This record gives sequence, structure tokens and C-alpha cells, in this order.
Amino acid sequence: MQEKIIILDFGSQVTQLIARRVREQNIYCEIYPYNKLPEIDETVKGVILSGSPYSVRDEESPNPDLSIIPDGMPVLGICYGAQFLAHTNGGDVYQSDTREYGRANLSYVDNSNPLLKGIPSDSQVWMSHGDTINTPPAGATIICSTEDVKVAGYQFDGKDIFGVQFHPEVYHSKDGATMLKNFLVDVCKCSQDWTPDSFVDTTVADLKEQLGNDKVVLGLSGGVDSSVAAMLLHKAIGSNLYCIFVNNGLLRKNEFGAVLEQYKGLGLNVKGVDASSKFYEALADLSDPEKKRKAIGNAFIEVFDDESHLIEDVTWLAQGTIYPDVIESVSATGGPSATIKSHHNVGGLPDYMKLKIVEPLRSLFKDEVRRVGRAMGLDDELLGRHPFPGPGLAIRILGDVTAEKVRLLQEVDAIFINGLKDNGLYDDVWQAGAMLLPVKSVGVMGDERTYENAVALRAVESTDGMTADWVHLPYEFLAKVSNDIINKVVGVNRVVYDISSKPPATIEWE
Ligand code: XMP
Repeated sequence: MQEKIIILDFGSQVTQLIARRVREQNIYCEIYPYNKLPEIDETVKGVILSGSPYSVRDEESPNPDLSIIPDGMPVLGICYGAQFLAHTNGGDVYQSDTREYGRANLSYVDNSNPLLKGIPSDSQVWMSHGDTINTPPAGATIICSTEDVKVAGYQFDGKDIFGVQFHPEVYHSKDGATMLKNFLVDVCKCSQDWTPDSFVDTTVADLKEQLGNDKVVLGLSGGVDSSVAAMLLHKAIGSNLYCIFVNNGLLRKNEFGAVLEQYKGLGLNVKGVDASSKFYEALADLSDPEKKRKAIGNAFIEVFDDESHLIEDVTWLAQGTIYPDVIESVSATGGPSATIKSHHNVGGLPDYMKLKIVEPLRSLFKDEVRRVGRAMGLDDELLGRHPFPGPGLAIRILGDVTAEKVRLLQEVDAIFINGLKDNGLYDDVWQAGAMLLPVKSVGVMGDERTYENAVALRAVESTDGMTADWVHLPYEFLAKVSNDIINKVVGVNRVVYDISSKPPATIEWE
């Protein structure tokens, strides 16, 4: 049985960061909303209580009954978590005179305490709280302090229950990773055996058991998630996995053939379906972005449905859903949010398909998916590929889409992307692409006046696509790419570079 740490989410913006830090120690963990604590069985080695935007003194603040955590189970409260443990156990939590945000240095550290083993006496920590613990809870001892915060950390005497008011999970807490490791390894006795290889082994074994001799259909997109999901399933059930890779006519230049070859080289049982004309027909005369997305989604469902009906007795649909899509996080504006984001790589399939869903990656973050892919021998080119939207170039062609516009944008995009690769810039960029603008502008080529298309280039840095900033690509590089595009792509006489961040702009233009 996989041992794990449970993280109870009280709504902090950095709860996912706690999970990342735990997993970086090769220890598996799961996040739950504070009021949905799962059953604590023998696989659970410890519980971490997150921070929160609430004050424990607020009436509507999270107030779970933690008595279901068995006696003797290690617990670490972080920020709100520490204040909650203090408040509910006879400690005093006050609104602090000075809100405590930002860097602070410890001024007292009890190095004999297991949580603080090896922590320098002036270690920098990151504070972010409006309340402060004035007196520690009954039967607890202060284990570290800063100049301003006497109860920076405490432990219940004789118990493995700790609280720290700073955030060890954030980068600015210089020794935060050591503190978490001390808790996880020395206190919780986690064995640090959750590695990409062990994930592959256990997941493949689980899939074998779950799927037996059943047939599974999976829509490949050329992206990292669907590819890694396919490889795991392939290892588990071999030729009972039927992959479908649809050419919607909106992919990058030559991408359909190249990716299809790559998949076949990996031994996948994959069928390439060229449905470009169906998608162009569905898009004809549509220029509203949402209508375009819908038309593409519907066309995809039709193609996928037709293809999966050709597979006899298929009973499962595999999806490349990953952990950020399934975490039910606590919203800052009250209660755990009722909605779990559900992201369907295949665009949401109609109920009548009646397929059961299997999602081998639903416990992994994106970079963990990459590491698992690498452990299974997928090459860096596939694993390092920039994200590419399902509706493809259609949402980078502003207004109506035609095959001719797609061809033109494919040429522009290929020059830009190959330029990034040739100049060693591709891996510094999270996502890049070109937009075909619905404007023509005047130019001059030789002695001729031209009146042609304008294109915009966009390159952003981001971690998850939720926020992004434009990349400061070298001027020399932009000059060269612009020149190449205008000289080589007939029909384009102007190139601009998008310098907007998200928010307020989005990454895609539609
Ligand atoms: P925006 O434009 O919202 O994009 O800043 C954020 C990320 O999501 C991708 N994106 C999509 N992916 N279907 C997808 O599969 C879509 O309809 C879609 N729209 C945007 C976008 O490429 C970026 O990575």
C-alpha cells in the first residue's frame, strides 16, 4: 500500500506548494478540503494543516473536528494551521498590531527539537499573517522565535504535533525544505520511496487489475499528458489500448505526420484520422471565438465517436487528466468550492458513448508527468513540447478560418518555433506561437507597394498558464525572425511582437 501524507486545505493560495515540497522528497501526498478529511488509515503517515486567508477569530472561519486524527499521528500546522491548533487548545491568538508579512529571521531556535534539526539560529523565514499567537496552547513549548514573533513555532509536549506561524513551503523560507524533511522523514518516518519508477510500477499493476482484458480507447493530442497516459496504459494492456490521433487541420506545419510516426515508433497501437475537411466545413464562415471552439469540439466528438464505434467491445475511455484539474480547492470567499474543475482532453464526450473513464495521471502535477514520461523512455523533444490548445491554429487566426489562412500561419509559426529551437531559446519559453491578424497593412517591397497580412508573435513564461508574462526575447532574434517571415511567407508584410502580460491579456488571442 502506498504510504502518504494528508494535507488539509484551509484555503491558502500556497497549499499546492506544500504538496510540491512533500513530493520533492519522494513522498506521496494528497490535498483535501478542511471539511472533507478522509478516513485516516494505516497508509497515512502524517497530516499537514495549511494556511488560510481567514482569522481563527472570524465566525465563519474553517473549524473542522480534528478528533478523527488518531492519537499519535504526527501533525504539522502551518500559519492558520498553527493558529487553529493553538486557538482550539487553550492558546491565545490575537490580531497582531503590525501585520506580519515578508522576510523575518529566527532569533531563537531549539536545535534539539526534531523539526528544527540543522536549522541555523538566524534562519530566514517567510511570514504572512495578520493574527499572531500570543501564548502557545496548553501543554506546548515554544521551539523557535523571531524578534517580533515569540511563538514562531511550538510543539505539544510529548506529542508529534507542531505548529509554525511562518511558511516553510515557500522559497523565501531558506531552510523550509529542511524543516519539512525533518517532519516527514524523522517525525512521520516516511520512507521516501515514491519515485517516477515506483509510480510506473504501481500504476501499471493497478491498471492491469482494473482493466483486465478490457479494451480502452484514448485520444492522443501530441501533447505530454495524453502521450504519457498512453505509455502507461500500453505497458499495462498492450494492444488492448486503441489510440486515435485526429488531424483537425489546425495543427502545426507537418505535425500530424511527424507525431504519428513518433507514436508508432513507441510501439503504440495508434490510428491517425485525417478529418481536416470536416473541421474546415464546421468552421466555415464562423468568426466568433466561442462558436469556433464549439464547432471544433463538436466535430472532434463526432470523429472520435465514429472511430471508437469501429473498435469492437471497447468499454473504457482513457484521459490524460492531471492533478491540478481534480484538486477540489477551498475558495477564499467561503467554503470549499462545490465544483471540481473537470477537464476533458477529448472535449467532453456524450453520455450515450457509455464508456467508463480511466485517468492514470490524475494524481500527478505536470512536471511529475514529465518525469514519469522520462522514466518510461519518452524523449525530451516530446516531453518538452510547448502546450498547444485543442482548437489549434483556429484560435490564432482571428476571425473566420480557411485552409489557406491555416497554411499561411503554419509557415509563419514554423519559422518562429524553429528559430527559437535553433537559437537555444525554445526551452526558456513556456509557450510560443503566431497569430494571424484580421488586418492588412501597407508595405513596400522592392519598388512595389504591398497591401498584405500582419502577424503577431507571442512568447510567454508561465508555470501553469493561469498567469503569464511576455518573454524578453533578444532584439536580434526578433529582427531575424521578422525578416525571415516577411521574406519567405508570401502574403505577410508586417510582424509585431505581443508585449502583454496575463492578466489582463490572455495567452491566446481568441
Ligand atoms: P489563455 O488564452 O486562456 O490560455 O490565457 C491559457 C492556456 O490554455 C490554452 N488554451 C486552450 N487549451 N482548449 C485547450 O485545450 C482551449 O480551448 C484553449 N484555450 C486556451 C492556451 O494555449 C494556454 O496554454
